[in-house]
Amino acid sequence: MKIAIYPGSYDPITNGHLDIIKRSSFLFDEIIVAVAKNSEKDTSFFSLKKRIRMIKKATSEIENVKVDSFDGLLVNYAKDKKAKVIIRGLRALSDFEFEFKMALMNRSLKDDVSTVFMMPHEKYTHISSSLVKEVSCLGGDVSKYVPVNVNTILKKYINEKI
Ligand code: COA
Repeated sequence: MKIAIYPGSYDPITNGHLDIIKRSSFLFDEIIVAVAKNSEKDTSFFSLKKRIRMIKKATSEIENVKVDSFDGLLVNYAKDKKAKVIIRGLRALSDFEFEFKMALMNRSLKDDVSTVFMMPHEKYTHISSSLVKEVSCLGGDVSKYVPVNVNTILKKYINEKI
């Protein structure tokens, strides 16, 4: 059973993340989308519970995807889940340096866990969760960048704030 972890903050999940999840689901037996509880971005826009709920709904049609959260070191979580692979998305060269360091650190912490990099479709290379939130908060249409359920929730949040 090949289990892969796809970790991140997912604040919120975007179509870029979803694209990576779909591609990975063909390569591995099980993908665990793991939402970091204590990421450096602790000023999350959406609560952990909401982020998990949004991912579950957005991935509900992909059979081999599970959604979970984790605390502490990612490699320890991977060990607990018997996963040997960490999936990370690479959108542009600017992602590389950070991802490279993180992959090497994770490997030096646990040699039998490897990071696999995947590229989302090029139509998603310029998007990020922060940009989606910023554009949406300023009244822009982000419907082509996020799953339908996320777009609905973003609109609701913004309407409530106005
Ligand atoms: N499509 C669109 N956007 C994407 C994307 C894709 N395919 N892949 C990444 N992104 C964006 C995200 O939206 C996010 O945007 P934001 O900065 O605007 O929020 C950004 O790229 C990076 O986010 P993400 O991929 O979610 O990673 P992260 O940096 O938030 O999370 C952890 C990093 C949680 C995986 C990492 O900190 C970790 O493993 N923490 C656990 C503790 C640990 O083990 N630390 C040691 C690590 S060596």
